[in-house]
Amino acid sequence: MDQWPGLMLVDDAPALADAAARMIADTAADAVAARGRFTIVLSGGGTPRETYMRLATPPFADGIPWDRTLVFFGDERCVPPDHAESNYRMANESLLSKVGIPPDRVYRMRGEADDPEAAATEYARTLATVFQTPRGGLPRFDLVLLGLGLDGHAGSLFPGSPAAKEIFRTVVAVHAAAARIPQRLTLTIPTINAAARVLFLVSGAEKAKVVKATLSGGAILPASMIRPDDGALTWIVDRAAAALLSADRPPRAGRS
Ligand code: 6PG
Repeated sequence: MDQWPGLMLVDDAPALADAAARMIADTAADAVAARGRFTIVLSGGGTPRETYMRLATPPFADGIPWDRTLVFFGDERCVPPDHAESNYRMANESLLSKVGIPPDRVYRMRGEADDPEAAATEYARTLATVFQTPRGGLPRFDLVLLGLGLDGHAGSLFPGSPAAKEIFRTVVAVHAAAARIPQRLTLTIPTINAAARVLFLVSGAEKAKVVKATLSGGAILPASMIRPDDGALTWIVDRAAAALLSADRPPRAGRS
């Protein structure tokens, strides 16, 4: 699979969790050595749960500099933080509550807010403050984790949604009619593409078609618009999800 730069092929979901946890730990160590802190954006959905649980157990639980880690979210469903569909809840239960991250370093999106537009603006302000970005500037996260939706969405950037075309704002409110929880908050494409590293985690046979569509470049999907401007793009994909990637297709994945 050398013809797909940036693609790391693994056997199955447990191997994906191992590889992802290792890459997160390495990125954290490098970031702390270079800048004294590690900024990570967590993904929602179900795929990263196993990775988060792996991070919460040795050697990662005590090897990662959690006390130097700042945690953000790529998207959130507009539900309270204790709701079964909350991305924060999933991350908190599987990882955040189990390792030594000071609670004031966990920056969650306020999915429970009555006004999603105001919650998006508030999160944008939080990013600008933490990263001390000038007006109109973008934060540069050390690592952004993303999953891949069956329709090619990433974060809560759905095909055809104006949010996927947003170029000015860093965070927007989204209404995705087809989603189980339609009202959402999400980072925008320029914000994700300003990161130092973006890591997609994709597992399972039902993702094979969309993996092929995204990586082969035949379709313009939100996920295929994620290409860091000055950073690395890695896809960790298991064999079932990579099943339709043939060995003789032209490359399209990213720089590793
Ligand atoms: C969300 C997401 C979303 C997710 C994909 C993949 O809040 O729903 O962040 O972009 O990552 O839909 O989800 P699965 O990992 O559950 O397949």
